[in-house]
Amino acid sequence: MKAGYLQFAPRYLQPEANRETVAELVTDLDADLLVLPELFPSGYYFKSQSDLEQVAEPIPEGETTQALLQWASDTGTTFVAGLAEREGGAIFNSAVLVRPNQTTETYRKVHLFYEETERFDPGDLGFPVFEASTRSGQTYRLGIMVCFDWYFPEAARSLALNGADVIAHPSNLVLPHCPDAMPVRARENHLYSITANRFGTETKGDEELTFIGMSEICGPTGEILRRASRDEVEIGIESFDPHDARERHINRFNDTLGDRRPETYVTQ
Ligand code: ACM
Repeated sequence: MKAGYLQFAPRYLQPEANRETVAELVTDLDADLLVLPELFPSGYYFKSQSDLEQVAEPIPEGETTQALLQWASDTGTTFVAGLAEREGGAIFNSAVLVRPNQTTETYRKVHLFYEETERFDPGDLGFPVFEASTRSGQTYRLGIMVCFDWYFPEAARSLALNGADVIAHPSNLVLPHCPDAMPVRARENHLYSITANRFGTETKGDEELTFIGMSEICGPTGEILRRASRDEVEIGIESFDPHDARERHINRFNDTLGDRRPETYVTQ
């Protein structure tokens, strides 16, 4: 399959302009799977709750999911993209999976970062894994986590235990460690990961958040297959066989997931 990330710098509270930017970038896309950043239509550092309420959208009825459905239909690509989701009275920091066959799935960010803890409701759907397929019809299993979820190894491990071959990871990274941590997440779970980050700076009063770019594709032996710059608009695509993730033996005695000893671990 051909899979990768789209890295750009969303403009704060300008969903139409941000969708337009992505629409232009994906016009000639040749990919089976493309991951977009966290909160790509709205920007990240909300100055007020009413700013967030203005841009939160239902899935799939909202304009962003509708745009993604159109792009998926035009290109044959499966998209995973971050957005603020309105569900009843709740607002989640979500990622939507959109297939060319016009079906969608939702993941809601479990581990909220910094002021997100005051703005969003915590994800309530766990770490589900979804079936997806390439344009040539190869099926694979796709898990999703959003940005700060990387910090908790349990997130990627839960996706691996649920059968993920590939983790799509929409992000707005500000801490510097994730690009070095994701190869480890990929190695310790023996799967592919695609982190789609943003770059640029957002301010709130006298506070400033700078996003680090360096979107990344990692492979099951911990190799970095591709890493983006810190501050350029980039689509990065790699070719790989997602089923390579399924051979999780380390040698003839050891298995990546099978050798776990859950009865010896502290889970609380
Ligand atoms: C983050 O979770 N956006 C750092």
